[in-house]
Amino acid sequence: MPKTTFFKITARLPRFRADLLTWYAAHRRPLPWRQSRDPYRIWVSEVMLQQTQVATVIPYFEKWLQVFPDIAALATAPIDQVLKSWEGLGYYSRARNFHRAAGEVVARHNGEIPRDYAAFRALSGVGDYTAAAVLSIAFGLPYAVVDGNVKRVLARLLVLEAAANDPGAKILFQEKADQILDRNHPGDFNQALMELGATVCKPRTPDCPGCPVRVYCAGLHGQMQTQLPNRLAAKKTPLKHQVAVVPLWENQVVIRRRPAQGLLGGLWEFPVVERAETEPAKRVVGDLLNSEFGPGFDRLTPLGTVKHAYTHFKIEVSVFLAEATDSAPRSTVSENGKWINISELETYPFSKYNLRIIELLRKHLDPS
Ligand code: ADE
Repeated sequence: MPKTTFFKITARLPRFRADLLTWYAAHRRPLPWRQSRDPYRIWVSEVMLQQTQVATVIPYFEKWLQVFPDIAALATAPIDQVLKSWEGLGYYSRARNFHRAAGEVVARHNGEIPRDYAAFRALSGVGDYTAAAVLSIAFGLPYAVVDGNVKRVLARLLVLEAAANDPGAKILFQEKADQILDRNHPGDFNQALMELGATVCKPRTPDCPGCPVRVYCAGLHGQMQTQLPNRLAAKKTPLKHQVAVVPLWENQVVIRRRPAQGLLGGLWEFPVVERAETEPAKRVVGDLLNSEFGPGFDRLTPLGTVKHAYTHFKIEVSVFLAEATDSAPRSTVSENGKWINISELETYPFSKYNLRIIELLRKHLDPS
C-alpha cells in the first residue's frame, strides 16, 4: 500500500473544508439535537450516540428532555429514574456517569456547564470524544472529534494503514483529525465528518460517486476505499450459560438490585447464577432457590431461553418460574432483593434480557 498522501491534501485543505461544509449545510439530517446549541441538549445527544445508532437514540433523546429538561433536573433526580429512562439503551455506566457529572456541574460550577476543556473533561464519564464534541458543537471551541466514523473517513481519505480498532493508533487518528479540523467552524466541521461517515463513506459500501470530497480522497485514488480502514482481528466472545428464576408467590415476584459498580450496575434483575454447560439447569435453579429461600418452591416451570450479546461475552439464560407451594417464604429474601407485585415491574429499571424474562412471564401467566 502506498504511504499516506497527506502532503497532497494539506495544500488543498481550505477547499476540502469548504466543500465538506457546503455539503453538510445542504445534506445534514434534521436531528432533534441540531435544533439548538444548548450545551446540555448536545451533551445528552453525544452521551446517547456513543455505541448507539441515531434512529435508536431519537425517541430516548426526546423523552429524556421531557423528564430531565436541564442539568439541575438531572442532578437532583433519583438514580432509579435515570436508569429507567435509559432502559434498553445499553452501556448503563453512561447513564450513571452522566447523572454523577450533572451533580458535579451543580457542585463545582454553579450549575453552568464549563466551557473550559480541562474542567469539562474532568467530569465523570467525559472522555476525549465527549469533551471535543460538546465544546465544539455548543461553544465553537476548536477541538477535533474522533469516533468510528471519523476514523474510517480519515483512513480512506489519507490512506492511513493503522488499524482503526487498535488503541495504540488513537494518537495518530487524533493528530490527523486535529490537522484537518476547520478551526473557524469546528462544530459543523466535526459533525460534517461524522455525517459523511454515517451516510456516504459507509463501512462496506461507500458511495464514492456521491461523495462531496472524493477529489481529495487518496483511498479512492488508489482503489483502496473498501479495504480501509484496517482492523485488528476481533477475539471470539465466549458464551456463558446462566439460569434465572422468577420466584412467584400469589401475585408477587422477587427481584434484586445489582451492585452499583460493574456490568449493569444499579439495575434490577431476577435472581440469576452461572452454570457449567454440563450442569442441568433445573438442578442449578433448585440449588439457587434452596440457598436463597430454603424449601417451599417446589413447582418449577421452564419459561424459555433468552440470549444477549455484550461487548466481551454472550449469555444464554434458561429461565424458570418457581411457584411457592403453600406458606409464604416472604421473609427469607437475600439482602438486595425484595418481593414486589407483578404490576410494579414496569416501575423498576431492568436490562434488556430481564425485560425479555418479564415478557416470558407475562405470556405464561396470561397466554391470550
Ligand atoms: N455521531 C455522534 N454525534 C454526532 C453528531 N453530532 N453528528 C453526526 N453524527 C454523530
